[in-house]
Amino acid sequence: MRLPSVLLAGAALLLAGTVVSGQAPAGQGAGRGPAPTPQNLQVLPKDMTFQQVIGVMQQFNAALGVTCVHCHQFVGPNDPGNDFASDAKPAKNVARRMMEMLRGINPTVQRAVAPKAADQVVGVNCMMCHRGSAIPQLPPPPARGAGPGAPPAK
Ligand code: HEC
Ligand code: HEC
Repeated sequence: MRLPSVLLAGAALLLAGTVVSGQAPAGQGAGRGPAPTPQNLQVLPKDMTFQQVIGVMQQFNAALGVTCVHCHQFVGPNDPGNDFASDAKPAKNVARRMMEMLRGINPTVQRAVAPKAADQVVGVNCMMCHRGSAIPQLPPPPARGAGPGAPPAK
């Protein structure tokens, strides 16, 4: 995995120490009592646990090639300035709109390939466009080798 393990471990620790019960991603925080629910979910289901939310967040990190701090007010492990519910960073709201975009696209994809069963359809996800960049980029096309339409070799 290309995940920034130092920051991830820090974030997981932070959450484990304060809010996450059960097994946090870094294996911390077991048996700390009931977890309060996330406070500011506007697109994801509001009843998701922190652990489930973090699973989605790790996919965002990987797809965009960023760390949590790209979208969140995260200063450091256990820093009182940390605030994952805050919407202060514009990228967080961009991500919400991107999630909504996928909710629009994927039923269209499903209809386009009907009658393929829903669980057989390859849905669109963040990685498909972002491929590890916050601003999606495609690599330049490969240099043309010999092939159909190539100039004759000398
Ligand atoms: C690409 C942007 C992005 C990245 C990167 C990201 N998040 Fe998020 N995060 C969001 C968005 C958007 C929401 C709110 C989702 C919603 O409104 O349903 C959110 C919500 C959360 C919440 C819930 C806060 C609450 O109380 O409502 C937590 C906790 C969280 N993220 C932690 C993390 C951690 C830890 C990481 C790094 C592993 C991370 N996020 C990386 C965009 C991001
Ligand atoms: C259809 C392609 C596509 C998909 C799928 C997609 N994005 Fe994007 N996203 C873009 C493009 C293109 C941009 C850059 C727009 C620009 O020029 O600023 C972008 C920009 C962003 C940005 C702002 C980055 C920055 O630092 O300015 C965030 C955050 C983001 N996307 C999150 C997500 C997340 C999270 C998902 C999955 C839920 C997702 N995107 C899925 C195409 C996509």
